[in-house]
Amino acid sequence: MSTVRVEPGGPLKGELTAPSDKSISHRIALLGAMAGEPVRVHNYLDAADTRSTLSAVRALGARVEEHAPGELVIHGVGLRGARPPGGPIDVGNAGTLMRLLPGWLAAQEGRSFTLDGDESIRRRPVDRVAEPLRRMGARIEAREGRLPPFTIHGERLRPIAYELPVASAQVKSCILLAGLGAEGETTVIEPEPSRDHTERLLARAGVLLRRAGPVLGVTGTGELRLPGELTVPADLSSAAFAIAAAILVPGSRLLVRDCGVNWTRTGFLQIVRRMGASVVADLELPPTGGAIPADEPVSDVEVAAGPLCGTVVEPHEVPLAIDELALVGLLGCFADGETVVRGAQELRVKESDRIAAVVDGLNGLGGDLEATADGFVVRGVGGLRGGRIASGGDHRTAMLGAVAGLASREGVEVAGMDAAAVSYPGFLDDLARLR
Ligand code: S3P
Repeated sequence: MSTVRVEPGGPLKGELTAPSDKSISHRIALLGAMAGEPVRVHNYLDAADTRSTLSAVRALGARVEEHAPGELVIHGVGLRGARPPGGPIDVGNAGTLMRLLPGWLAAQEGRSFTLDGDESIRRRPVDRVAEPLRRMGARIEAREGRLPPFTIHGERLRPIAYELPVASAQVKSCILLAGLGAEGETTVIEPEPSRDHTERLLARAGVLLRRAGPVLGVTGTGELRLPGELTVPADLSSAAFAIAAAILVPGSRLLVRDCGVNWTRTGFLQIVRRMGASVVADLELPPTGGAIPADEPVSDVEVAAGPLCGTVVEPHEVPLAIDELALVGLLGCFADGETVVRGAQELRVKESDRIAAVVDGLNGLGGDLEATADGFVVRGVGGLRGGRIASGGDHRTAMLGAVAGLASREGVEVAGMDAAAVSYPGFLDDLARLR
């Protein structure tokens, strides 16, 4: 475990190209493995989480050629062609892999697959995907009924109508993937919109999809036909750390190049704008009616430092900013007044309990935060002293600590900084380049 000290310093200036989108990379690797024809992928995320997905699809029989970092050709095994590997599939730290892959595997009639992962994965519940998959006909056994390692016994699936108990793109995507292998239309009802990358990729593959308000329907198919080439845009969730640093460190001016701005991912930018931050970008608007966009929009994002005021993040905004809420907590420490995050109980089952991580972590640096059952309250204290924060093996907490260090008065020591490699291996180098 590496400990790194991040000192406060001068403004961040210059341009950043963020790493490729993690969510989209996972989905392209999985759909590529499920497809009947090879797909060429540009800009696949080269990080620990998405390498786990490539290992998983290889273990299931797909062939992945890596021509250069991020440049792949995936030769899939087809929608019903997953081969059971000799032992458990190791998902590493990747919650998205753990929750999406069972959707595909559930339709592999007569074959069984066991999924396991690291210490953090073993604490993350899988009952939320096991329940709908069981209703579709799959048999699933999990440790203590809800934790990994868990085994999926593939069956002939029947379509279901499923109302998601929480707005989760992972659970929604799992059911959509299972729906591809079922006969007829499977529907998912979302309490609030969540990231829609799976839908966009399925739309590009010509799958029959239907959206009517909160209802999303997918019709099963014999084979999946992806376009021959797919390109992954840069990840706004990764860029968000440098964006937050540029907002906080006086005199900063940052240009993030060609970043993904799918409207289901830009909640953080809307929240910081409301807090008074200067953010110029060509953000996608939510589509009207039942349209499902097929492309992933990109835009430059220009950010400048400035004063902030507190805000209230309402439950419907939470899925649109789920991985950036810890950064909202950090910004709240520097804002005038109170910042409140509500309806974010999902944060308790991320790579760590992120409500505890943000509240305890930032309080340890001089913040004034209070945990609530479904979020947190931050009282602005005009800045942070600094000190020590532990990542707890969570990549986003590690990067939060580093940004806090840049903006603090005395610097921050981040224990377990190496966790950042899960989504953003070059994070500290990129920050150093901008200073
Ligand atoms: C993800 C969805 C979110 C997010 C995670 C990635 C995805 O999880 O927190 O980092 O790629 O679908 P939930 O959908 O479970 O909230």
